[in-house]
Amino acid sequence: MFTPSRSVSLTQYLIETQRGRQLISAELRLLLEVVARACKRISYAVGKGALTGILGEAGNTNVQGEAQKKLDVIANEVLLEANAWGGHLAAMASEEMDGPYPIPDRYPRGEFLLLFDPLDGSSNIDVNVSIGTIFSVLRMPEAGAVPRIEHFLQPGRAQLAAGYAVYGPSTLLVLTVGAGAACFTLDRETGSWWLTQDRMTVPRSTREFAINASNARHWEPPVRRYIDELLAGASGPRGADFNMRWVASMVADVHRVLTRGGIFMYPRDARDALRPGRLRLMYEANPMGLLVEQAGGAASTGMGSILEVQPASLHQRVPVILGSTEEVERLEAYHRESGQQLT
Ligand code: F6P
Ligand code: MN
Repeated sequence: MFTPSRSVSLTQYLIETQRGRQLISAELRLLLEVVARACKRISYAVGKGALTGILGEAGNTNVQGEAQKKLDVIANEVLLEANAWGGHLAAMASEEMDGPYPIPDRYPRGEFLLLFDPLDGSSNIDVNVSIGTIFSVLRMPEAGAVPRIEHFLQPGRAQLAAGYAVYGPSTLLVLTVGAGAACFTLDRETGSWWLTQDRMTVPRSTREFAINASNARHWEPPVRRYIDELLAGASGPRGADFNMRWVASMVADVHRVLTRGGIFMYPRDARDALRPGRLRLMYEANPMGLLVEQAGGAASTGMGSILEVQPASLHQRVPVILGSTEEVERLEAYHRESGQQLT
């Protein structure tokens, strides 16, 4: 019988990263352990599904104007509760909350800021398709101050750690602390996370792309050109057939890219000038961008690295093009050739 390797737990990986490579402090390690514990609780809630009545609409609208699902609200509360009292954080910010959530006065305030998309891929909750949690850790730039929105507005390059959990056929946690991207699998019986892939690698080239093609009529010329060329297949300018996959949960689509390569796009489109893209910079694009870069891939707005974008607001949206470097660079070149000036 196949016996999976169980040699390195998440705790051991983090302790060795702290002690040996000195990439993280003990405080950051403890924070990441708490985030992983919260993801475990969300995973158990997801796994119960209809048995505990957690599917369906919550009956509210969030700051994005999106109808909240019950699980959006539950996952947000799990993350807030788990992270409020540990003493590692100054504040949190979430897709599901208008403004920052300062750590309550009854608990000590720490040196980090945590941002999250508590339940990514909400449209897939009720149809039993993979969903997840995305998170990003920043340093609180003004130690001891009352946390404000401006403290969060740091470019993705400043992230100290980033990761996501996927609640799929197995529950996975993919994490970076600046030493590559590592994948841990949850043993749902014992509740332990085990390292199942160290140093995830995005191949430089690919024959697979991910985009919501129903938006094609709204795309900009360079994106249309790029996708048209892929669709033309072996007899077109690329001289090769390309395959398409779209789960519609960013965590699942990006996990596929991190596992076997590909290019994932939610590009700028012309539907709403105030929304340059669909995905949110601070708790979707930045953490995923850092993970993909750490795995040897690229993450771009089409005009430059996502991680260099200076955020102007907490819930800002951004065009996202990430994955295998050769394809991301090609699409960037098409943007340059089109003479587009937008960032
Ligand atoms: O969080 C936004 C999100 O649900 C992502 O997870 C996903 O990539 C995208 O939106 C799906 O968008 P669409 O509904 O247009 O396919
Ligand atoms: Mn999301």
